[in-house]
Amino acid sequence: MFIRSLSLKNFRNYVEEEISFSDGINILTGINAQGKTNAAEAIFFLCTGYSPRANRDKLVVRHGEETASIKGVASSRYGEVSVCIDFNKLDKKNIFVNELQVLKIGEILGNINSVFFNPSELKLVQESPEDRRRFLNVSLSQMNKSYFYALQRYNKILSQRNNLLKDPDAYIIRETLPIWDVQLSKEAAKIIKARNEFLKELSPIAEEKHSLLSDGKETLKMKTESGYYGTEEEIAYALKEDLSLGLERDMRLGFTTIGPHRDDIKFTLNGDDVRVFGSQGQQRTVALSLKLAETETFFNKFGEYPILILDDVLSELDKKRQRKLIGAVEKMQTVFTATGLDRSVFKDKSFNRIIVENGKIKKNKK
Ligand SMILES: Nc1ncnc2c1ncn2[C@@H]1O[C@H](COP(=O)(O)OP(=O)(O)OP(=O)(O)O)[C@@H](O)[C@H]1O
Ligand SMILES: [Mg+2]
Repeated sequence: MFIRSLSLKNFRNYVEEEISFSDGINILTGINAQGKTNAAEAIFFLCTGYSPRANRDKLVVRHGEETASIKGVASSRYGEVSVCIDFNKLDKKNIFVNELQVLKIGEILGNINSVFFNPSELKLVQESPEDRRRFLNVSLSQMNKSYFYALQRYNKILSQRNNLLKDPDAYIIRETLPIWDVQLSKEAAKIIKARNEFLKELSPIAEEKHSLLSDGKETLKMKTESGYYGTEEEIAYALKEDLSLGLERDMRLGFTTIGPHRDDIKFTLNGDDVRVFGSQGQQRTVALSLKLAETETFFNKFGEYPILILDDVLSELDKKRQRKLIGAVEKMQTVFTATGLDRSVFKDKSFNRIIVENGKIKKNKK
């Protein structure tokens, strides 16, 4: 999968620009606050329909403007695809795939695939389980639309269940909940099974990538704690039983205490919990290893790599890890952003350097 061109209109600090990308390494360079991350964000938007950093779509519309649009043309082994998103100040966006409007946001998924990494992805290792679940949800939704729809249904039923648990009438809760729980367990089982399979494939690859980036000095181990295994039916059955066993506790607390919305992943390096003991560089390397492993799982599933977007990653790693990283991304199209360019870490590798200056593309050639 390769992105060929990206057109931005009134998107963040861009008025109207087009960026062309080459198949290998692309580097968006420029001093701070020029629009490098904005361009990287736009690519991810075209893949998933949402921003990796803004939670309100209207924030991307250039100050003083009413509408914005981004368009990307990508090619995959199935041919060329164009994805366009029109934004407006009302927070409503229109999505077009190959010029045809799609009505459900989920339909944007799978047209252009990418793996996005920027310094805030450190949250993946450092912060709450929610950040790790978000990683699973973003990857799995891009790979499998039915995962995204199951997750949407699950979240809806879960929030209804949680509202019901707050009902002062315990009789109503006991009467109604078992019906909700059948549906909740069914959707939960799809999510859990997909996560189990994904993590089973991802973990050994992430461990291998970490070893590569750390020059064999650190051993990463990943452990997941869903506690439910087997077929979808088996998982749904076990979860439904647990939901009913945990009913009194859930009623007391007023929310659902078990299910995929509580899943987590634990990381250890040479046996120590990375969240507690890992250095910044080690935590960054773990997060990066996960993302690199994610690109391999895409490859295993689709026979081609996603676009790898690495925002501000190089400056955060020591030279040795930078070189290792550049060696590891050789097989796929990569879009780096960086304030400076240290040619020594690229050795003899060619790259497309794109200079960004105040929302304008100053130079865009190999
Ligand atoms: N909706 C918007 N309208 C106009 N400008 C915006 C909007 N949103 C963000 N910007 C501006 O875009 C500029 C560039 O942001 P961006 O994050 O892309 O910089 P960058 O080149 O990645 O810088 P750094 O090297 O510091 O990461 C910022 O100065 C920001 O104020
Ligand atoms: Mg930036």
